[in-house]
Amino acid sequence: MDDPLAGLAEKLSGPRSSKVSGHEATRPARALKSLGSVLDKETRAIMNFEASVKRRYSAAAQASELALCCPVEYDRRYIDGIPAEVIEKDYGCGNPSAYIAPGETVLDLGSGAGKICFIAAQVVGPKGRVIGVDMTDEMLAVARRSAPIVGERLGYLNVEFRKGADPGSGA
Ligand SMILES: C[S@@+](CC[C@H](N)C(=O)[O-])C[C@H]1O[C@@H](n2cnc3c(N)ncnc32)[C@H](O)[C@@H]1O
Repeated sequence: MDDPLAGLAEKLSGPRSSKVSGHEATRPARALKSLGSVLDKETRAIMNFEASVKRRYSAAAQASELALCCPVEYDRRYIDGIPAEVIEKDYGCGNPSAYIAPGETVLDLGSGAGKICFIAAQVVGPKGRVIGVDMTDEMLAVARRSAPIVGERLGYLNVEFRKGADPGSGA
């Protein structure tokens, strides 16, 4: 892959044969090169971070982990129709469903096993729509196999799950 910073650095350093520009002209080029390596380090750090988040949630999608859970109160009405597996693998830390209304379209970034999406599906109702996005395959698998079960219980299916991640994550 082309490195845009290296390309820019070469342009700034001017023609290689030029003796006039000499030392001064290469200074911005050197600065850009070192900026490039710092950015590279940052990108690698972000990618490592994302990989460990993925590993953590991948394991937690396969076996319930109590330590990952924050106690949150949900309206019992919305929980009853959600498969037990989703509730067991729910690691949510808040209740954004309190801020949505019937007919709305909801996007849940980091939807995990889908609990909030399944609650939202009931709040927005058959005229609304819910899209859950997650980067962890194992979480998506739990959410996707639960969606038709919730749909059947509700009498409508208005929720879908897509794979996605922050573009910088390398996921
Ligand atoms: C706490 S769980 C989600 C809980 C869910 N929102 C709920 O309340 O039911 C966090 C989820 O975010 C996902 N995640 C974390 N960082 C992400 C990223 N950069 N892109 C996509 N998904 C991400 C993880 O895979 C994990 O499944």
